[in-house]
Amino acid sequence: MVDPKSGNDAAGEGRTVSHSLVRMSQVIMPQQAGPGGVFAHGGDIMKMMDTAAGLVALRHAHSQVVTLRVEGINFLLPIRVGNYVTATARMTYVSQSSMEIQVRVTAEDVLREREWEALTAYFIFVAVDKEGKSQKVPPLILKTDEDRRLNEAGRLRHDTCRIDDEAKALCALD
Ligand SMILES: CC(C)(COP(=O)(O)OP(=O)(O)OC[C@H]1O[C@@H](n2cnc3c(N)ncnc32)[C@H](O)[C@@H]1OP(=O)(O)O)[C@@H](O)C(=O)NCCC(=O)NCCS
Repeated sequence: MVDPKSGNDAAGEGRTVSHSLVRMSQVIMPQQAGPGGVFAHGGDIMKMMDTAAGLVALRHAHSQVVTLRVEGINFLLPIRVGNYVTATARMTYVSQSSMEIQVRVTAEDVLREREWEALTAYFIFVAVDKEGKSQKVPPLILKTDEDRRLNEAGRLRHDTCRIDDEAKALCALD
């Protein structure tokens, strides 16, 4: 299949990490606040992350994709109404039909010129056909040391969760 972005038949040999990289930004508006009205509603941030990760999966797979699992959502530093938030999503690991996407979220206090890493999480998407049945995705082409480092960590997460019943239970796969 011809890749509309590069014009190459990239599906056979795979697609690079940079091919599917997504960056999404938005200002957190008052209607996106949690019940207290000061901090961002966590669900709104998660929605943005899911959308960015889904776009990455779509660009890589060139088919319908669904969210299967999310790992490591920990809101360690707060995001407030008025902060300028950026989600950077990159493909880290590709298996048969599943894809792991790292989503890093940074927040900026524009007035004070201060930026911080708010959270990083891993989204696992599965490529599916029109009936919702899982289907194979192209391999991931690793070009940089960072690609290879993240890929190895993703492979470890993927394989560790499938070692035995205890590991499956820890990863809440059952
Ligand atoms: C994702 C889905 C298609 C997988 O269906 P399935 O019949 O289990 O498909 P398969 O057995 O072929 O598995 C597909 C992949 O999912 C992985 N998988 C399946 N069940 C899993 C589980 N409980 N935990 C982790 N991975 C799982 C498989 O290991 C495989 O990944 P691989 O490519 O790394 O080998 C199905 O679970 C589904 O439709 N879920 C709902 C998705 C959705 O609607 N998301 C939006 C939520 S609002």
